[in-house]
Amino acid sequence: MRPLVCSASGSTTLAMGFSIMPDRSTSPVLQPVTIGDLPLKNRIVMAPLTRSRSDDAGVPPPYAADYYAQRADAGLIVTEAINISPQAIGYALTPGIWTDQQVEAWQPIVQAVHDRGGSFFLQLWHTGRISHPDLQDGALPVAPSAIKPVGQAFTKDGMKDHVTPRALETDEIPLIVEDYRRAAANAKAAGFDGVEVHSANNYLLEQFVRDSTNKRDDRYGGSIENRLRFPLEVVDAVVSVWGANRVGIRLSPATTMPGETPLDSAVMETFGTYVDALSARGLLYIHDIEGVTQLTREAPDDVDFPALRRRFSGAYIANNQYTLDLAEQVLEKGDADLFSMGRPFIANPDLIERLRHGAPLAEAPKQYWYGGGSVGYSDWPPMRPITPAG
Ligand SMILES: Cc1cc2nc3c(=O)[nH]c(=O)nc-3n(C[C@H](O)[C@H](O)[C@H](O)COP(=O)(O)O)c2cc1C
Repeated sequence: MRPLVCSASGSTTLAMGFSIMPDRSTSPVLQPVTIGDLPLKNRIVMAPLTRSRSDDAGVPPPYAADYYAQRADAGLIVTEAINISPQAIGYALTPGIWTDQQVEAWQPIVQAVHDRGGSFFLQLWHTGRISHPDLQDGALPVAPSAIKPVGQAFTKDGMKDHVTPRALETDEIPLIVEDYRRAAANAKAAGFDGVEVHSANNYLLEQFVRDSTNKRDDRYGGSIENRLRFPLEVVDAVVSVWGANRVGIRLSPATTMPGETPLDSAVMETFGTYVDALSARGLLYIHDIEGVTQLTREAPDDVDFPALRRRFSGAYIANNQYTLDLAEQVLEKGDADLFSMGRPFIANPDLIERLRHGAPLAEAPKQYWYGGGSVGYSDWPPMRPITPAG
């Protein structure tokens, strides 16, 4: 094998020099696989990554086509979270999928990924109470119940404390289900291969699921069945557009986001019932954040991810701090089908190639994660095979 080096990227310099790197190209994680009727190049998924580079109208920039296409060697790419409506917005400069202009902006981005043979799902997002009046034309964010989250919202004027949201009226909830349906149809018009419903990290759907954030006394609150009613109505609406074999869902049974704990008095009972209902609908995959996203893979003793995986008939995407080694171990045990990686994709557009060669990974400084332009976003150089000089 030829020696490989990584080139310097942005302001980070990788000084690894020349070294022979292990050949991992035969790793079972890096072989093609088919989930449902969807053939994938390998078992690595690019996890959804909000990068806050859209304009005030929720329109993604043209250079997002470069960014996503550069990463199209992933088995599957899930987009950054995309707002289904203006009411869904909880972070400045995040993209949307409710206007024609947004759909038209996504079309060439999807095309660029397809041109490189990639598979591309759009993540459907409503942030609920994790928002701020500045992002809602002065209106209060909405939630199942008027319970203020801890922490701050990312607004155009910087970080601002969250506020106490407004509890949704019962007859407003079907309108949000329709927002999801329209967004799912728009995702289809933009050319995506499927959609992922964001029901994780304490955004609106999970706010309904959890008994600490849902204190409603109508048909959308109280029993587990009632708390799951709205998320499952959303899933059904999205499935009515796509068919269940092109719909996945993101779950985070062990999350403590936005910083509160405990979020649920009976996590496994709640999520076991949820997963059973998703399985009965024949969804393509569940995308499970194991532990707390980015922070830890630790979960309370009673949260059993393999048990949830066994209750689900479709594919299981595991996420959180995965390396190729860990993915191989978990695949060998039969505890997951696919593995999503988030942060490693930021500074490694050719992550799959680097994994195949056992090459070192570049790290993106946090200043590039959210906001800005193409710098630190679509300009990370790929690793290049070179012949050592002299
Ligand atoms: C910059 C950044 C943005 C993220 N945006 C999203 C998002 O839009 N939707 C989502 O479900 N998760 C989001 N996440 C969480 C990641 O999808 C993933 O769960 C997390 O990074 C852990 O995976 P990793 O250890 O491979 O990075 C984000 C994480 C980061 C670092």
